[in-house]
Amino acid sequence: MASSTFSPATASQLCSSKSGMFAPSTALAKPAKVNVAMGKERVGAMRVKCQATSIPADDRVPDMGKRQLMNLLLLGAISLPTGFMLVPYAAFFVPPGGGGGAGGTIAKDALGNDVIAAEWLKKHGPGDRTLTQGLKGDPTYLVVENDRTLATYGINAVCTHLGCVVPWNAAENKFICPCHGSQYNNQGKVVRGPAPLSLALAHCDVDDGKVIFVPWTETDFRTGDAPWWA
Ligand code: FES
Repeated sequence: MASSTFSPATASQLCSSKSGMFAPSTALAKPAKVNVAMGKERVGAMRVKCQATSIPADDRVPDMGKRQLMNLLLLGAISLPTGFMLVPYAAFFVPPGGGGGAGGTIAKDALGNDVIAAEWLKKHGPGDRTLTQGLKGDPTYLVVENDRTLATYGINAVCTHLGCVVPWNAAENKFICPCHGSQYNNQGKVVRGPAPLSLALAHCDVDDGKVIFVPWTETDFRTGDAPWWA
């Protein structure tokens, strides 16, 4: 019996359908010359195989669960860095202060750390006057008494003439303003102009080991006058 041969349709052609998707493994099946007698059976078998591995078109759309998960991941990726940027931005508008109770402010050292009284006294000897950050961020001298304790007052370093920061001159035992020469004694009382007033005071307390500045509203003990800064 004469056997005729034909070039069958490729596997991809056989697997293509309106609504189906074929599997690559099946699609790559080698085209072969098929015996006519056996051709129909083989083609039929391949078609069955293609149908078995096809995926309905509707399944190609991600389901709702996956879409929600992707949305959540996207939201998280955007909101986390945005939150990290917004928190310090908002904190910028919150006035400093607090932490000292009764309007007090924790003293900060040159590095911006809270001043711990015990540690401070280990590093600063009798007669020391070193600048810290005080009320409203003003530079304020922390005074160490001769008995190695902290004085109960701090001295605001802003000159009462035109606002320069007045440095402590240990050799002269005075605060001497470099701008126009005003002088203040070791408690900040003005002893030479042009500054018209003594340096402002703040109460200096220790709370839970930390140094706290509190507004001074009582009589100025150096002059017996009402505090001009209150
Ligand atoms: S600013 Fe201090 S003396 Fe003028």
